[in-house]
Amino acid sequence: MKKILVKGGKKLNGEVNISSAKNAVLPIIASSILCGDTCIIDNAPMLEDVFVISEVLKSINSNINIEDNKIIIDNSNLTNVEPDSDLVRKMRASFLIMGAMISRFGKFKISLPGGCNIGNRPIDLHLKGFSALGAEINFGHGYVEAHANKLVGNKIYLDFPSVGATENIMMAAVLAEGDTVLENAAEEPEIQDLANFLNSMGAKINGAGTDTIKITGVKELKGTQYKPIPDRIEAGTFMVAAAITRGKIKINGINEQHLKPIIAKLREIGVCMEKVDDGIIIDGNNDFKPIDIKTMPYPGFPTDMQPQMMSLLATINGTSVITETIFENRFMHIGEINRMGGNIKIDGRCAVIEGVDCLTGCEVKATDLRAGAALIIAGLAAGGYTTIGDIYHIDRGYVSIEEKFKKLGADIERIEVD
Ligand code: EPU
Repeated sequence: MKKILVKGGKKLNGEVNISSAKNAVLPIIASSILCGDTCIIDNAPMLEDVFVISEVLKSINSNINIEDNKIIIDNSNLTNVEPDSDLVRKMRASFLIMGAMISRFGKFKISLPGGCNIGNRPIDLHLKGFSALGAEINFGHGYVEAHANKLVGNKIYLDFPSVGATENIMMAAVLAEGDTVLENAAEEPEIQDLANFLNSMGAKINGAGTDTIKITGVKELKGTQYKPIPDRIEAGTFMVAAAITRGKIKINGINEQHLKPIIAKLREIGVCMEKVDDGIIIDGNNDFKPIDIKTMPYPGFPTDMQPQMMSLLATINGTSVITETIFENRFMHIGEINRMGGNIKIDGRCAVIEGVDCLTGCEVKATDLRAGAALIIAGLAAGGYTTIGDIYHIDRGYVSIEEKFKKLGADIERIEVD
């Protein structure tokens, strides 16, 4: 069994390069299903989730080659309309292939995703969109099936700006007949990136990145070559790590616009930041003060940065409050941070954080991807050794995380234990 061992107390220093965004690449890979030509994704992050969605596509006869950060996808021979359910159940994002599959084949059957460590995560909004486009949806024996003779554009209002539903419905609408208008759509940068990828294949999508997206159906899409956006959550994770160790680092290859809510909150804490060419310098050598944070859909503060911020606030004297509005169960890391000497109490959807002078290293477990990142961050600032278990969660979404931290001077390694 592999674990990550961190010895705290080192100030981070140096430069780190940001990889492409996991949450942009996953829907992009799914959307390649819409076209029979070859699609090439450059600078792809070599992550467990990327490998899993590639395997899901292979199970429907996609020909995928991954070499040197390049993913080459040939979907000319897709025949199977039922992906391997064991693979699908490994990762919720597998469900992102549904819109493209209904659109291309008029039928599709997939294992229903269950809840996960961060919440119940229903898919009703995805299905509402497919139905509005003319698909007939049926459930049974843990599967959801869709049939459609043809998809026809429609006006669809999302009750909540779900990222996955916006992406899935957008993919289904690209080849539908006529216009689709998606209202109260998610505005995350990854939505805009998916639209840019699809438009580079010949789709007609306008307004992605705003709350109203208009998709004019086209007859077919052609192959493309595309480089996804940088990972704003990976960048944010390193920003918080620099701050908690009172270090000074340069983060290269970011899109500052996408980091606005994270930069705003770090600035409120007292972290100094300076934009330089395509990077940002983070300087944690300052007095920090407690703050309140509420997670919101973009451009609000991202839920995917909530656990990492919690580790930082746990070390800042005074009372901070974090309100989690996106996922009902995304506080599993609190028990682990408290094991390290944190003083955090949960009150419904709020976490009340009383900052302590220092955290102390101990054995903890990554309960999900971002919780794992939060524990590494806490470990970097804690006294002594922190051992993090269940690190497969971390490998789902961070490229070479311990190597990147090591290059910044952290005392961190991956160890094999019985
Ligand atoms: N929701 C519904 N019905 C739906 C869909 C969503 O009620 O049909 C609810 C969810 O239960 C949740 C909220 O809406 O409470 C937000 O879910 P959303 O659909 O926006 O999230 P997602 O598409 O499942 C993506 C990211 C997550 C990220 C969220 C929110 C990918 C592959 N995943 O998930 O990333 O937290 O958006 O920004 O893009 C992560 O990277 O660690 C991660 C969990």
